[in-house]
Amino acid sequence: MIRRLRFSPALTFPASAGSLMAGFVAVGMASSAVAASPTSALDQQRDDLAAFQVIAHRGASGQAPESTLEAFTLAYEQGADYLEMDAQLTADGKLVVFHDDTIERTSDGTGHINDYTLAELKALDVGSWFNEAHPEQADTAFEGANLLTLDEVFEEFGHDARYYIEAKSPELNPGLEEALLAKLKEYDMIQSGRVLVQSFSQPSLLELHEQSPSLPLVQLLWYYPDEENAAQLKEWTGVTPGSNRVDDADFAAIADYAVGIGSNYIYEDEPVISADFVQQAQDNDLRVHVYTVNDKADMQQLLDWGVDGIFTNYPDRLLELTR
Ligand code: G3P
Ligand code: CA
Repeated sequence: MIRRLRFSPALTFPASAGSLMAGFVAVGMASSAVAASPTSALDQQRDDLAAFQVIAHRGASGQAPESTLEAFTLAYEQGADYLEMDAQLTADGKLVVFHDDTIERTSDGTGHINDYTLAELKALDVGSWFNEAHPEQADTAFEGANLLTLDEVFEEFGHDARYYIEAKSPELNPGLEEALLAKLKEYDMIQSGRVLVQSFSQPSLLELHEQSPSLPLVQLLWYYPDEENAAQLKEWTGVTPGSNRVDDADFAAIADYAVGIGSNYIYEDEPVISADFVQQAQDNDLRVHVYTVNDKADMQQLLDWGVDGIFTNYPDRLLELTR
């Protein structure tokens, strides 16, 4: 475990102090986005996103239980640019970091996460499942890992890290946008350029954009073959037509509120996007981040296409190709 200064929302660090801290804590994350004026914060982040981004999907979740302190710490130490995570609300309105709608896959409990209070969720073991599912990666240190609040993540990594937070299943988490914005402001994550917010929900992103125009947003897209015509692709929530039929106007509409798109690469072993798709999005002022890519040959293909970032469970593999 690295030695890290605890972060307090009452304390914010100027760029120089942030850089010193990053050095002090050993392998730090990219620290180019620093305290910006309110009017320039979004432009600053747009500039930062011109560089390729290594996005640690639920932390280094191929090597440690997803969305735990262990997974995020490992990703941070490996040097990922962003810690990716999914934000949801507990029954008592607390923001927690958890992917699934239900808790049985990655904990020793059952049921819907939104039905439990934070205290109840804190009693869960969200680490042991990983040892059983991945015996070759098992580590006794993972046993009994705690489900994290967003506060705990911010207090652990502060402004040393950057966060790529998904507003997850807004229909199951009413009030998520408001709670998330309040938390980001409490920790000065927006004006300091430390956060991107992503969602599959266009209404959720539009609400966030209206409430906080400086907050950089990424529209998630998921392409898959149309059951009635396998030659055609569809997008899950209908934000765009299929990736093989999308046009400039479709991308321009997203660029009105988002700095980029996050798309899947593969559906059932077949690519659902192409080099042309990537180029067309970029020509419409959208950065293109692709999820979730763990195979180095796939990573290299996407790098050859010129994508702007990749979500991966193995940041170390991607970093071997990009640094
Ligand atoms: O957020 C990008 C990617 O994580 C979306 O898929 O299901 O892993 O949240 P999911
Ligand atoms: Ca996610």
